[in-house]
Amino acid sequence: MNIIDIINKKRLKQSLTDEEIKYVIENYLSSTIKDYQMSSLLMAILLNGMTDNEIFSMTKYMASSGEILDLSPLGDNVVDKHSTGGVGDKTTLIVAPIVASCGVKVAKMSGRGLGHTGGTIDKLESIPSFNVNLTKDEFINQINDINVAITCQTENIALADKKIYALRDVTGTVESIPLIASSIMSKKIALGAKKLVLDVKVGKGALIKNLDDARQLAKIMIEIGKKNDIEVICILTNMNVPLGNNIGNSLEVAEAIDILKNHKKGHLTNLCIELSSHMVALGLKIDYDEAKKLVLENLENGSSYNKFLELIKYQHGDISKLPTSTHKYKIKTNSEGYINDIDAYKLGILSMHLGAGRVNKEDQIDYSAGIVLNKNINDYLEVGDTIMTIYTNKKIEDLNIDNTIFKISSQKTKKEKLILEILK
Ligand code: URA
Repeated sequence: MNIIDIINKKRLKQSLTDEEIKYVIENYLSSTIKDYQMSSLLMAILLNGMTDNEIFSMTKYMASSGEILDLSPLGDNVVDKHSTGGVGDKTTLIVAPIVASCGVKVAKMSGRGLGHTGGTIDKLESIPSFNVNLTKDEFINQINDINVAITCQTENIALADKKIYALRDVTGTVESIPLIASSIMSKKIALGAKKLVLDVKVGKGALIKNLDDARQLAKIMIEIGKKNDIEVICILTNMNVPLGNNIGNSLEVAEAIDILKNHKKGHLTNLCIELSSHMVALGLKIDYDEAKKLVLENLENGSSYNKFLELIKYQHGDISKLPTSTHKYKIKTNSEGYINDIDAYKLGILSMHLGAGRVNKEDQIDYSAGIVLNKNINDYLEVGDTIMTIYTNKKIEDLNIDNTIFKISSQKTKKEKLILEILK
């Protein structure tokens, strides 16, 4: 077997065998296959796709390229969640304590952000002293004690995915359904939970831009789940506009607290209720309506916020000292009318440049940097109103804000659906 024949086969739209995929994964991990050869194969996959069987093989060998966690000592009501990545997506910070407060165990290993989308670990690290590096034993013990733990994914989970994802990131091969499906599901198989809710983001601020692609991605991830004894529910959700009002790490923690503590209403809260209800239904083996009732009760009676405080305390965080930035710039509008659209992607990029995200993997994050939207869809603006506030530690001489971020019109717009589809 050799890599050039395999690349040529994929270039000619032929299917690779299980043995060929095994050969690729093992030999790329050991560096026998070089980055330039793997890049070529990844581009051929992106252009010509993969059959379901090829995707199953790819996922299997990527999952077994590292450690596989055994969560069975935690029992059978352990539920995991994963989002394909969005702008202002702080749902894990809200959903994990809600679900744990309902008696379901949440074993969450999360990642850092790269590019215009954020990562849960960066958000949690903005809380002074919060420990994001739990050992495996600490992780399991904490879930046994308080039903929830959120930690950084251990170094040796799905090693092949780590190496391939880094290469995809710099070779224009991220946006491929077979590669996204095998990447996400290989990690989920390795992380050990047998019940999984996937938030598949669709729209301008997401990796997947249209509903047909999102459906295809969801279906294949559900099939991979079935083959690996993981019950998967995919919730396809709108990511054209940012989630909530705050973008940036400590700003997003503050918004999560506002929802858990003060029951702030809005589309972010609705999404969190939806995700939590599906997780609780899976974990407790009850129907969706019963689960939703429990979720709403626990959100309203303070149990979910208390669980959040318990989680922060257990991992040594101090939310009384969230970092704040030295500079605050109010962006005023010179138009009048209703906000019809907010471009999540452009705000994600702006937030990254303010310091909230990494342009390169090794960049240091400014945890206090980011954006607060002072107005949202269908709010009316007068000339001179503050539309958003920018937080940063960078002194910016010339704030050149792209004036196509907001679309303003004399009419209100029809609000887009937040939950687009649910697939099981
Ligand atoms: N998230 C992942 O973990 N992998 C991808 O390929 C895309 C999003």
